[in-house]
Amino acid sequence: MRIAIGSFPVALMLAAALPLCARQESSTPPPVTFTAQQDQQNMMEQLGIKALRPGPSGNENAPNHANYDESKANPYPDIPDPLTMNDGAKATTAQIWWKRRRPEIVEMYSKYVYGFVPENVPEVTWTVRAVDHEFIGFTPVLAKDLIGTADNASYPAISVKMHMTLVTPANAKGPVPVLIMFGPAGFPNPNEPRGEELDRLNDAMKALLLKQDPSLEDVLAAHPAWEPFKASPLFQMPQLNADGDPPNEWELAAAGWGFALLDPASVQADNGAGLTRGIIGLVNKGQPRTPEQWGALRAWAWGAGRALDYLETDPAVDAKHVGIEGVSRYGKAALVTMAFDQRFYMVLVGSSGKGGATLLRRNFGEAVESLTGGEYYWFDGNFMKYGASEATFGSMNPGDIPVDSNELIALCAPRLTFISYGIPEKGDAKWLDHEGSFMATVDASRVFALLGARGLEGFGDYRTAKMPPVNDGLLDGQLAWRQDDGGHTDAPNMKWFIQWADKYMSYAPQP
Ligand code: GCU
Repeated sequence: MRIAIGSFPVALMLAAALPLCARQESSTPPPVTFTAQQDQQNMMEQLGIKALRPGPSGNENAPNHANYDESKANPYPDIPDPLTMNDGAKATTAQIWWKRRRPEIVEMYSKYVYGFVPENVPEVTWTVRAVDHEFIGFTPVLAKDLIGTADNASYPAISVKMHMTLVTPANAKGPVPVLIMFGPAGFPNPNEPRGEELDRLNDAMKALLLKQDPSLEDVLAAHPAWEPFKASPLFQMPQLNADGDPPNEWELAAAGWGFALLDPASVQADNGAGLTRGIIGLVNKGQPRTPEQWGALRAWAWGAGRALDYLETDPAVDAKHVGIEGVSRYGKAALVTMAFDQRFYMVLVGSSGKGGATLLRRNFGEAVESLTGGEYYWFDGNFMKYGASEATFGSMNPGDIPVDSNELIALCAPRLTFISYGIPEKGDAKWLDHEGSFMATVDASRVFALLGARGLEGFGDYRTAKMPPVNDGLLDGQLAWRQDDGGHTDAPNMKWFIQWADKYMSYAPQP
């Protein structure tokens, strides 16, 4: 990675001065333009798949609705054992886990589920676009808007500019922990001109109006106190969510943490048609994927890794204590980030469901067939095989997947891993299969224990483990669980997450 401060104008000047560049650019063939359906069909042909089983309906009144009967939820009750190696031998020590078993699971998860990150993925250069001094609640912060440009010399027709905004407390006594959050980037609370600055802007604006239309003179004269630009209130109450929680940004700033907003769409589009563009398309020079190449989830996770590369260079950040957070599809992406990139210290996995913390083998709510259907592009091509009803290889089902989410969670061990959900009554749909995530978390706890950390204890076998009551956080170990009484958000769990992580980091910011 390279860091360039204000390198844009230089790059632009060079491009303008070199006619060769321009010639190369115009001779680059454009990327393939597929609809999502065409892209999926292309991958099915590469894999020899003729038909996919349709996923169930999320509408409980539809005839083909998803299963919500717990007695039918475990058609494949035996999940792969994270501590049994592919040759059948047991991983009985931490050393065997690190040397042999973990790499096996990483390899299988890459090959069969999320795809491999290509070896020739280009370098990213971060540029600070602007720095703003703002307030989040009562906390003064420094907000940096950053662009991470992927080197596209090999295929100039696609440009990838990752967008991240890093916010750190302005009065911190030292480097702070930072939580990267998947979502739209941008300045949280831009510092506005006030007082004399605002007067000057208003004078200039009135002068401009008069210049543009001299007949406005009497309008302005009739309203001498009117100002085109008005100051917004210095302090604004936070926008509370439906559960009454302040935004995550407020909680983090008040706790003396930093945070970074990372826009996943600036790395890779959230749709199948986008696979010949974004970082996946750039590496493939605009061509469709091959079956083992990464899908959007792994690409988003890769983007978070590049964001961490930048944070490692920023003195305001305690790069040893950087976390990743996301909800729903970005909850999946957060878990994938944490599982594969061991530099991440902690994760808050919000309502991640199938393809995230929930067991792929469970049949409760969202099914593997939902993922291999319209959501196929989150995964690699190979993953579609498990939804195939008719193919040159016959058919496959979720029981054939060589891995399951207990192992994905285990890849995070012994680092801080918080699995968060809300409740269906408030909108965290049954579709997400909270119980299936709990079973996976219970089973993954064995790996945390092997590595000298703590997971969920006292629940016995995952097959019979039952979720604790809502709001009963299991926060005593490095692997934590809490189902709050809110909706499809992790905001109600943010304060618990911060306290829990602070304890492990021994972090107590000076007031
Ligand atoms: C759908 C999808 C889920 C996903 C969710 C979201 O419900 O089936 O897998 O997590 O969208 O990201 O909002």
